[in-house]
This record gives sequence, C-alpha cells and structure tokens, in this order.
Amino acid sequence: MNQTSTRKKEHLNLCINEDVGFKTKTNGFEYYEFIHYAITEVDFQKIDFSTKLFKKKISYPFLISCMTGGTNEAEHINAQLALVAEEIRIPIGVGSQRQVMEDRNYQESYKVIRNNAPSVPVFGNIGAAEVVKFKSPDKFQKLINLIEADALVIHVNPLQELLQPEGNPHFNGLLKNIKKLVKQVEVPIIVKEVGSGISSRAAKKLLDVGVMGIDVAGAGGTSWAGVEMLRKKSAEDIYLWDWGIPTSFCIKEISKLKKDYKFILIGSGGINSSISASKALALGADFVASARRVLKELDKNGTEGVKKLIENWFEDIKKLMFLTGSNNLNQFKRNKLIRKELIY
Ligand SMILES: Cc1cc2nc3c(=O)[nH]c(=O)nc-3n(C[C@H](O)[C@H](O)[C@H](O)COP(=O)(O)O)c2cc1C
Repeated sequence: MNQTSTRKKEHLNLCINEDVGFKTKTNGFEYYEFIHYAITEVDFQKIDFSTKLFKKKISYPFLISCMTGGTNEAEHINAQLALVAEEIRIPIGVGSQRQVMEDRNYQESYKVIRNNAPSVPVFGNIGAAEVVKFKSPDKFQKLINLIEADALVIHVNPLQELLQPEGNPHFNGLLKNIKKLVKQVEVPIIVKEVGSGISSRAAKKLLDVGVMGIDVAGAGGTSWAGVEMLRKKSAEDIYLWDWGIPTSFCIKEISKLKKDYKFILIGSGGINSSISASKALALGADFVASARRVLKELDKNGTEGVKKLIENWFEDIKKLMFLTGSNNLNQFKRNKLIRKELIY
C-alpha cells in the first residue's frame, strides 16, 4: 500500500470511529428560527424537490460530498454510496483523485462510482496542491474521463495541508491555475473547502476566474485539523481545531453574490440533520451536501440507512416548507428565517 492509500485509510477510520467534529464552534444554524406562517395555503402533497443539474434529472437538491477512493475499503464505500445515489437520483462526488495520478492500481475504486451511478451527475475531485503544479490540462482531463465526470471539484484545504505531516502548504499561483483549468478542461469547475469555509471575498475571486460552483464546506462539521492532529498524535496545533468560518455565515454572505454572478451555491459543513439542511437551503444554498454523517450512516446501517436518512430529511423539509408557506425552494429562500435575537 502506498503512502496516499495509507493516509486515505486512516482518514476513513478516524472519521468513522473518532470524535472529529468541531469542539466549541458550531455551523451557526441554531441562531436562526423559521417564521411560522399561520395562514399557509401550500398543498403539502404537491411539494416537489426534483430539479436538473448539468442537464440530468435529480430528485433532491442534495449531494453526497466528495470523500474517498484509492483504497480497497474506499472502493467498497464508493460502490455502496453510488448505488444509493442512482436509486434516489442524487449527485455524488468521488474523493481526491490524486491517487489515480500516482497509482493505476486504484482506478477501479473511483470508476465504481460511475459504473454504479450511470445516470446522475458525478463529480471528479482534485486538491489545490495538484492544481498549483498545473502544466497541461491533460492529466486533469484524464481524471474527468475516467469517471465521465459532469464537473471537476477542486478542493482548497490550506489548513489541512499545513497540519498534515506529508502536507504541501505551497499554493503559489493557485488562482491563476484554476483560471487555466476553467478554460482548458471540458467540464465546469466547482471549488470547495473541506471544513474551514469560503469567504465572500474568496468566492468573488473564484467567480471572477469563471468557476461555476462554490461549495462552502464551512466550519461546524468535520474538523480536518482535528483529523490530522489525531493522525499525528500531537496536540501542538490544538488552537486550530475549530478554525474556520461557520457554514451558515458562508452561505448567507456568498448568496449575496447571486445578484452579480450566475453560479451554483452548495451549502455544506456539518449538515448533519434535516434542520441544518433546511436552514442552509433557506439561507440561499441551491444544494446541500454531507460527508461524515453519510459515511457514518453507511457504516452503521448500510445503503438502506443512507437512503432513508436522505429521504427522511426531505420529508422534514417539506413540513417546514408547508409551515412557512413555501410552495417551492425559491419561496423557501425568501425571508423564511429570522435571527433568534430579533425574536426573544
Ligand atoms: C472520510 C472523508 C474523506 C474526505 N476526503 C475528501 C476528499 O478527498 N476531497 C474533498 O474535497 N473533500 C474530502 N472530504 C471533505 C468533505 O467533502 C467535506 O467537505 C467535509 O468533511 C465537511 O463536511 P461534513 O461536515 O459533512 O463532514 C472528506 C470527508 C470525509 C469524511
């Protein structure tokens, strides 16, 4: 097993078995309350979440976040998650494909996602550390072709690279190279964080170079600083465990850019319940996404568990839409939430 495979295996084990959530900071959704609408005229049965993403029909604005690939365990996990994605028609991302660049042996662990989910949007994934080494689009296009990806996700993870023993915290030229990728690969580019959030200033720069989606992956869910500290068995950087911008704030601020730019806004980072998912959507996210919550559900209750989890969340969201007088998600976004301090 090569070094990257060992790391991927450790990440999976820690995310499933250890408490790697933020310690005191939250994603901030608890500061918001839905405004009950006593004279709702919404027909509950008619609420329908189906929409299109990259010209493919999907049932819910929910994405299984980019997680894994590059180990035997990863292949099994990806195979199962992809079956769920295909069955309930939702998009799914693969984990970092850096491994494919290093070792052809693990190609199957990524390809299995497209094989098991032939008709839904599938996202490729590569880290900023590889993007800064950009010389030609070919090796990135190969990653896209391998899984017939509908979009390529670039994960920006400066905190993780800083704390990882084998990390590479040298991001010189990142934005310039993202711009080259936008122009030179055949699919749209989405940029995501991994749990520290994307500010409005960073989002604007990304949109200016032509990125078509922003996944905020904000603070309050999985702490990748925490994961790396547990891997190193060192608490030296403990003050960074909770580093980042809360998910709710990222969504609220970045959604304001919608008046000037056309892009897809994905709300993620601690989307661990129907309440956090609903508030992310009401604050302006077009899609919500979850990583560790889904992984843990799969580990505990298998594909049936993941399927039920997502379907139940959207049943709950339907009820909240009914109670707030929202016939559809566009209406749900219009002033349906209030900051709690304005009520009490
Ligand atoms: C086991 C695991 C592996 C992950 N690997 C990747 C990855 O390869 N690429 C990536 O962009 N994000 C990766 N992530 C980060 C997630 O996509 C997500 O942004 C982050 O965990 C925050 O979401 P959460 O709070 O729902 O877990 C991984 C997450 C988990 C749990």
